[in-house]
Amino acid sequence: MSEPKGDIGLIGLAVMGQNLILNAADHGYTVVAFNRTVSKVDHFIENEAKGKSIIGARSIQELVDNLKRPRRIILLVKAGAAVDAFIEQLLPYLEKGDIIIDGGNSHFPDSNRRYEELKGKGIRFVGSGVSGGEEGARYGPSLMPGGDAEAWPYIKEIFQSISAKSDGEPCCDWVGPAGAGHYVKMVHNGIEYGDMQLISEAYYIMKTVGGLTDKEIGDVFAQWNKGVLDSFLIEITRDILYYNDTDGTPLVEKILDQAGQKGTGKWTAMNALDLGIPLTLVGEAVFARCLSAVKGERVKASSILPGPQIPKDAVKDKKEFIDNLEQALYASKIISYAQGFMLIREAAKEYNWDLNFPAIALMWRGGCIIRSVFLGEITKAFKEDPQLENLLFNKFFTDAVTKAQAGWRKTVSLTAEYGIPAPAFTTALSFYDGYRTAYLPANLLQAQRDYFGAHTFKVVPEKANDNLKVGEAIHINWTGHGGNVSATTYDA
Ligand code: 6PG
Repeated sequence: MSEPKGDIGLIGLAVMGQNLILNAADHGYTVVAFNRTVSKVDHFIENEAKGKSIIGARSIQELVDNLKRPRRIILLVKAGAAVDAFIEQLLPYLEKGDIIIDGGNSHFPDSNRRYEELKGKGIRFVGSGVSGGEEGARYGPSLMPGGDAEAWPYIKEIFQSISAKSDGEPCCDWVGPAGAGHYVKMVHNGIEYGDMQLISEAYYIMKTVGGLTDKEIGDVFAQWNKGVLDSFLIEITRDILYYNDTDGTPLVEKILDQAGQKGTGKWTAMNALDLGIPLTLVGEAVFARCLSAVKGERVKASSILPGPQIPKDAVKDKKEFIDNLEQALYASKIISYAQGFMLIREAAKEYNWDLNFPAIALMWRGGCIIRSVFLGEITKAFKEDPQLENLLFNKFFTDAVTKAQAGWRKTVSLTAEYGIPAPAFTTALSFYDGYRTAYLPANLLQAQRDYFGAHTFKVVPEKANDNLKVGEAIHINWTGHGGNVSATTYDA
């Protein structure tokens, strides 16, 4: 057989896979395409791939035989069992040093496991986040690869050339070891849930309290898209609100208000609970989808549980109302990203991953669903100080939340006063107030724990005395008839 020509192989010819192949071919790479249902390969080769540097493979062996060494194979198949099944099928044909790249939305513990298992077999595993939907895959996605660092030099050029660019820099860099790439993609998705929830709440507030039409709300988003909120999700929201059905009325108003989810937001929130990080905004965004899903109960409750009436003149000054809302959205978004980076920082510690924070922000700057001008500022903040403890401590963001605060508070008050559900805006403000409070009421909570369960507490150092010693786990016999034995102390 002649020398193989394929630079990279791809398994999974659904729309993302096809588009990624076409993207790589446009950048001068020869791609070998395979799909479990082989007729899909034939159809692709005869149509979209015609005349391009794309080779169709009709079996796994043909795919591997057509690839230069070390073989580089991307899997773009459904996360879960399908990934393991294809790895199993590939293994008999691969040699030590070959590279398997999982580009699906895999759960990072699975990628940790696959990395370890394949390392033992001499195969280099990469778990890569791929974001940007169909368009992104075709013309420049955000790529977040992690795993076996030995693979990076062999895939760097291809990955960085097909990825989106931001100010000339590729939105793709090496994230870190094992499942770190999929971890960062998971957090991206959690933040995506948060951004979408915030935008949906803004739309709802404009519609209910503000009494704006969808066209007018679309105009507001169009305006916001020229300022600090300039982003892909604001842009598509504008377009959605402008989109009319065949009868000339907004299509969005005909869509059933029950949100779906595939689980990546939930994974992010669960991981935040595991690591003890207050990722409240993403958590609320996931729960807001869950609440929307119980439509039947909500319809019933709407006729049983009363709330305030919204008066016609609830909004006195429309401009001020919209400006406040913009500030609320901006500030809440800053909180969400600050929380997201708190989580990633904790994960780096917990899993012993050396993560590159400016690179992560840059990877999200372009190509992906959460891409925005704002991420340029985050990139800058982490470039200035890669060890930045919290985004809110960077001067740009301290100033931004300070300035946005008044409008943010007014918006949240308005929603409380008129009974409009705004969980993401509200939780963002609660977090902000909690985070900036040096002395929280957890003293009372600790006292309660010690009172009923002898769970012990520690003393404020300045208030220590002979009975209350600094650093010690103290138990008080609050009632006089409890015992003096304390429970074992440990924190989950
Ligand atoms: C992306 C998206 C994508 C995700 C969808 C669906 O970055 O391109 O995050 O990976 O699958 O957004 O997510 P839900 O169905 O959970 O909303």
